[in-house]
Amino acid sequence: QGHVFTYDPGFTSTASCDSTITYIDGDEGVLLHRGYPIDQLASQSHYLEVCYLLMYGELPTAAQLEAFETTITRHTMIHEQMHNFFRGFRRDAHPMATMVGVVGAMSAFYHDSTDVNDQKQREIAAHRLIAKMPTIAAMAYKYSIGQPFVYPRNDLDYAANFLHMCFSVPAEKYNVDPILARAMDRIFTLHADHEQNASTSTVRLASSSGANPFACIAAGIACLWGPAHGGANQACLEMLKEIGTVDRIPEFIARAKDKNDPFRLMGFGHRVYKNMDPRATVMKESADEVLELLGVENNPLLQVAKELEHIALNDPYFIEKKLFPNVDFYSGIILEAMGFPTSMFTPIFALSRTVGWISQWKEQFADPQMKIGRPRQLYLGSTYRDYVDVENR
Ligand code: SDX
Repeated sequence: QGHVFTYDPGFTSTASCDSTITYIDGDEGVLLHRGYPIDQLASQSHYLEVCYLLMYGELPTAAQLEAFETTITRHTMIHEQMHNFFRGFRRDAHPMATMVGVVGAMSAFYHDSTDVNDQKQREIAAHRLIAKMPTIAAMAYKYSIGQPFVYPRNDLDYAANFLHMCFSVPAEKYNVDPILARAMDRIFTLHADHEQNASTSTVRLASSSGANPFACIAAGIACLWGPAHGGANQACLEMLKEIGTVDRIPEFIARAKDKNDPFRLMGFGHRVYKNMDPRATVMKESADEVLELLGVENNPLLQVAKELEHIALNDPYFIEKKLFPNVDFYSGIILEAMGFPTSMFTPIFALSRTVGWISQWKEQFADPQMKIGRPRQLYLGSTYRDYVDVENR
């Protein structure tokens, strides 16, 4: 009776981790990948080069980059038998459900040939995942709209290949617009990694048990799906559509401030950034560029987004709460303008973030002292008590 559980401060929690991959300064709005600022990488580099940087720690030489891009390009097809997994889903299944299922199923195809304790095999698994995620995402999209799967092409770069697999049909020729491909590549880069966010922590915790990388990445996809995390890009566009016109913004601002209203401004706020998310700044520039290219620069959603941002950034409540647009605020507007349905926004986030998940997965194995993760709890439940028979309760 009266036994009190004491919190053992000596127990070293494994909920936190060391990393050399990404640095965020939330107060200053700084995001560095291996020391390089995200705005320079987004404007001067390209996604597969950033993948190399995240995985290996340095920008590649021309020869290293060519070898890496050739390896990724030549692994973009998935096993033909995996096509059957898509057909087991209802046509209206959310593509994130399909991605969780199919990526998890990769365990059945590659797990036996992946010894996670072997560095070379870890690298092969990492290449397979980076290479195949766009194919799986595109197939999930094609399946959801009843169109035939489109195979990857080795003559296209990573982003152009994804657009090709999503938007081409066997019945007619499809030429990928290089400017759209550049915008797509920049969106991939802006979502590549982000330190210990919820889905990356999920991948690290799952892989700390020695589970195979495909199952761990499937766990990361599942976590990213939530509207508080990667699902915010879809939720944000749906919110902008619900607002509809600039004159309805005050109504939603009031709801966001109302503690009795669960409504939150999707695409605003962040667990770490208490300043502008530097990715949102680049994304906003891309939105202007892509919409102008497509001749929809007067897109009403973009007008609503810009006015909402302006009002929120000057509203004392949001200033006091340090709420700024995050990476999800503008991405949906670009993706919708490019022709994607809102259901494909988070799958695109997931395929972009795969390199971050897998780079941190690899990093974890580099620690010979790696232990299984065991986040700590502070027990607030009942103290010790004896069982009581039902007739005495
Ligand atoms: C991503 O972690 C990462 O790195 C994630 C990510 C990545 O790249 O992996 O950056 C991607 O997930 C970006 C976040 C996408 N989510 C959204 O846009 C959904 C809307 N945002 C919120 O749900 C919220 O801002 C979170 C979940 C992102 C953060 O939640 P917190 O930690 O509760 O936010 P906070 O501590 O900064 O909140 C401070 C206050 C709170 O009010 P009080 O309790 O102090 O009274 O601000 C309020 C919150 O209620 N608040 C909001 C708000 N976000 C926070 N109020 C209205 N609208 C919002 N969007």
